[in-house]
Amino acid sequence: MPSSSMNKNETNEQKQSLLKNDDKQNKTDTGANIILIGAPGSGKGTQSTRLVERYQICQISTGDLLRQATQDKTSLEGEKIRRVMETGGLVDDETVMSLIDKSINKPECRNGFLFDGFPRTIYQGEQLEQLLESRQKRLDAVLEYAIEDDHLKRRILGRLIHKSSGRTYHEEFNPPKQPMKDDITGEKLERRSDDTNETLSARLTTYHKQTKPLIDFYRQRNIHRSIDATQSVNDVSKQSIEIVDYLRKQTTYKPSTSAIRQTETDDTLTIKSKSIINQRDVDTSHLSNNFLFIYNAVISVLRDRGII
Ligand code: AP5
Ligand code: MG
Repeated sequence: MPSSSMNKNETNEQKQSLLKNDDKQNKTDTGANIILIGAPGSGKGTQSTRLVERYQICQISTGDLLRQATQDKTSLEGEKIRRVMETGGLVDDETVMSLIDKSINKPECRNGFLFDGFPRTIYQGEQLEQLLESRQKRLDAVLEYAIEDDHLKRRILGRLIHKSSGRTYHEEFNPPKQPMKDDITGEKLERRSDDTNETLSARLTTYHKQTKPLIDFYRQRNIHRSIDATQSVNDVSKQSIEIVDYLRKQTTYKPSTSAIRQTETDDTLTIKSKSIINQRDVDTSHLSNNFLFIYNAVISVLRDRGII
C-alpha cells in the first residue's frame, strides 16, 4: 500500500478517534452557571429542564419557589406573595434573595446552577454578584429568550402544568398523551392562577419596566446572548447549548462588583472602573459603551496573558 494512502487512512482513523473523544467529552463535560431571562411564556421553564440535564446542574426557579410558598394557606407571608403574583407584580427583593441564598447551597447545586426567572431587577442582579463573589463563583452565560409580546398570549393561555413535578405542557404546542393528565404519573394537570389575560398584561408591563434593564447590565459583563424564542423548542435548546458551551470556555472580562460601579445619569450609562488593572486606577467614565466594551476585552486579554 502506498505510504500516502497509509497516511490518509491513519489520518481518518485519528479523526474518527478524535470525534469519539469529542463525543465522550461532550457527555462528561458538565457544570455551568446560567441565567435565563425572558418574558412570561418565552420558554424559560421548558428550556430549563433540558439545560439542567445537559449540564447536570440544579434548576432554581424563583417562580416555582414562590408558588410553593403560597401553598400554606394559613401563612400570612404566603398570602401576601400569592396576591403579588396574581396581580403580575414582583415579590419583594428580601423574600426572593432569602430563597436564593438557601437554594444555592443545596448539594444538587454543587456542579452549577440555572436561574430561571431570577434576577428580575438590577438590585437582584447586584445582590447575586455579591453572593457569587463571596462563594468565589462566577456566571458563565445569561441567555435572553427574545420574543414579541403578541406571541405570548397563546402560549400562556394554553399552558398546562403538573404541579408537583413542575412539568409543563401546552394544549396545542405540546399536548399531554391523555387530555389534562400528566404523561408520567397520570395525575391531573392544572392551569396557573396567574395565566389569565389580565394578569399576563401586568406581567408583561413588569417585565419591560423592571427586568429588561438587566439585559444591558449583563451585556456590559460580556456574558449576555439573545436567542430567538419563536423557534421550535429543539432549535432554542440547540442554540442555548452552543452558546453556553462557547461562553464557558471564554476568559473574557467578567467584572466583579468591586471592579465596577454602575450609575445612571441623564439616561447615559456611566461606568467607573475602580480596579480593572490592579496597579493603576483608570478612569473610564468618559468612554462610550461601545468603546468600553472593546477596552474591557483588550484589558482582559492582556491580563490573561500576564502582560499587565
Ligand atoms: P415565573 O413562574 O417565573 O413566571 P414568568 O416569568 O411569568 O414565566 P412563565 O413561567 O410564565 O413562562 P416561561 O418562560 O417559564 O415559559 P414556559 O417554558 O412555561 O414567575 C411568576 C411570578 O412570580 C412573577 O410574575 C412574579 O410575581 C414572581 N417572581 C418570580 N421570580 C421573581 C423574582 N426574581 N423577583 C420577584 N418576583 C418574582 O412556556 C410557556 C408555554 O409555552 C408552555 O405551555 C410551553 O409548553 C410553551 N412553549 C415553550 N416554548 C415553546 C416553543 N419554543 N414553541 C411553542 N411553545 C412553547
Ligand atoms: Mg416558568
